[in-house]
Amino acid sequence: MQLWLIVALIVVTISPLFIMRFIALENVEAQLRSKRMDELSSYALILSNQIMRSNYFAGDNQESVNNDLNQSASLYNARILIVNSDYKIVKDNYSTLDGTYSVSEETIRAMLGTEVRYYNEADGMLELAAPITSEDKQTVLGVLLFYSSTSDIVKTCQSISSSYTAITIGLAVLCVVLAGSMAYVFIKPLKRVTDSIDHMAEGHFDEEIHLRGFSELKRISDSFNTMLNKLRKLENSRQEFVSNVSHELKTPITSIKVLADSLNMQENVPNEVYKEFMRDIVEEIDRENSIINDLLSLVKMDKAVAELNISEVNINEMLELILKRLRPLASQRNIELVLESFRPVMAECDEVKLNLAFTNLVENGIKYNVAGGWVQVSLNADHKYFYVKVADSGIGIPEANQDQIFERFYRVDKARSRETGGTGLGLAITQNIVLMHDGAIKVSSKEDEGSVFVVRIPLKHKK
Ligand SMILES: Nc1ncnc2c1ncn2[C@@H]1O[C@H](COP(=O)(O)OP(=O)(O)OP(=O)(O)O)[C@@H](O)[C@H]1O
Ligand SMILES: [Mg+2]
Repeated sequence: MQLWLIVALIVVTISPLFIMRFIALENVEAQLRSKRMDELSSYALILSNQIMRSNYFAGDNQESVNNDLNQSASLYNARILIVNSDYKIVKDNYSTLDGTYSVSEETIRAMLGTEVRYYNEADGMLELAAPITSEDKQTVLGVLLFYSSTSDIVKTCQSISSSYTAITIGLAVLCVVLAGSMAYVFIKPLKRVTDSIDHMAEGHFDEEIHLRGFSELKRISDSFNTMLNKLRKLENSRQEFVSNVSHELKTPITSIKVLADSLNMQENVPNEVYKEFMRDIVEEIDRENSIINDLLSLVKMDKAVAELNISEVNINEMLELILKRLRPLASQRNIELVLESFRPVMAECDEVKLNLAFTNLVENGIKYNVAGGWVQVSLNADHKYFYVKVADSGIGIPEANQDQIFERFYRVDKARSRETGGTGLGLAITQNIVLMHDGAIKVSSKEDEGSVFVVRIPLKHKK
């Protein structure tokens, strides 16, 4: 995980705690001060009543009031002064101001009958001036002055603040640890995926990955392995294709070399032998040429679907022409060629390519047939597709080989195909053309009975 992400996580988690800490502490301190002031005020009321009842200013019962006052003063951590109506301090629990005068603004305002509250922020002192009134509250007999230190309140707040800081730091550490462990849990498997992709990019397709943990990781490793398998298959077929191509291209050249060498080695070769060998050499050159042409058309088709040259094509006419062209080949082997059209079909397709695809199928029907057999081509359509069926009475294809006949260079009977000049590219080309048209091709066949190839092509081309 990126460092900035960890920092952002910590800032987002911790900053509200810090802000709350300041707001909360400010509030707590103010509330404690106000509570203390209320307590002082209540006590002032009790004390002023006691002073008024005991006739304190006349000198009566001073002892008991003073004792009370001293006790409360130490309880509230306060200095308490009793001032008489002449502004003379008659009692100071610190005993230093006895007999002096207090004419501060607070004393004067209290002498007028109002309680005065004041917080001296500089000294951290709560100051209260409360009037001592007569029983009917009409006359102010004197004033009580309280000076209470807030040091204990500050201490309480400081201790709350320290606990708060400790909790905040603890949370920050927890966040860092959590973020770190999350980074470890997330990054480690992703690193394995990256390593495997790098390994694959170097050309190794052997290493599957198996990530355990949450379901997304499992999905990543499944997708990766599926992709790896596909690439592996692709790589295998590429290698197989290259070795097949080399082999197929070398075969005619080897034959040509053998023929030419044997001519060279013989002295006084008769003219007929020369001619026969030359005919063989030309045949091999034609074969080489046809393999190269097939390969070129396959490579072209591998490139892109965009290369289709779409036009409105009369399929009935196309099939008639194909059969007309192949009739001489069929009659050589005494094979009957029949076309059965169920309806006129016009379709949007690449005429040249489809022509080649159907020619390949009919040609196969003739090539892999028995003397005196038949090949029947039929055309039908529904509202979406047209169907071309090529059935023959030929040698058939064993069940086990039916899946492979569409592979490049695949031939069921190598010797026989060579005899007939086949390279095993015809059906691969046909299937490619059909797929380019978003169509499908299917085969059903029985050995020694014949084969049926059905091609389905959409009437309208999907752009
Ligand atoms: N109608 C058929 N009947 C029996 N076997 C067939 C038929 N069509 C194809 N095959 C078998 O499938 C193989 C592959 O056919 P494909 O048309 O791809 O190649 P090919 O005919 O051998 O050579 P090419 O068509 O390139 O000249 C053939 O070699 C043959 O064994
Ligand atoms: Mg063929």
